[in-house]
Amino acid sequence: MNSALAVMPSERNNRSVWTVATHSFKGAHFATFPPDLIRPCVLAGAPRGGIVLDPFGGAGTTAVVAMQEGRKSVLCELNPHYAAMAERRIAAAWLDGAAQMDVFHDSAPAA
Ligand SMILES: C[S@@+](CC[C@H](N)C(=O)[O-])C[C@H]1O[C@@H](n2cnc3c(N)ncnc32)[C@H](O)[C@@H]1O
Repeated sequence: MNSALAVMPSERNNRSVWTVATHSFKGAHFATFPPDLIRPCVLAGAPRGGIVLDPFGGAGTTAVVAMQEGRKSVLCELNPHYAAMAERRIAAAWLDGAAQMDVFHDSAPAA
């Protein structure tokens, strides 16, 4: 065998297009990502116990996956309706001791 091939990983790293199964979401957000799309980014972005940042938080998929993977998360979301949706979703996915949730509002939360 060529010696260069002996150090090649058995699986290729992800390329620029990632194929993941879609995942249904009952909420009213227009572009919720499938958790399996976010998961490699969360795992690569912070060690267990670390913090991931999603500056475009949407319905909170990053926070839910971070919780599942033992990471904390900070999300920013411009639209108060989506922020409230993420808040409810994170609360529903809560695993005691696995995550921390602080919600900051710069204006009154959506009714
Ligand atoms: C593609 S969605 C994110 C979806 C999210 N990853 C999820 O799975 O739910 C992008 C989000 O970024 C928000 N957004 C756009 N511009 C923003 C800004 N300047 N600051 C914070 N959030 C912003 C939008 O309101 C939208 O909810």
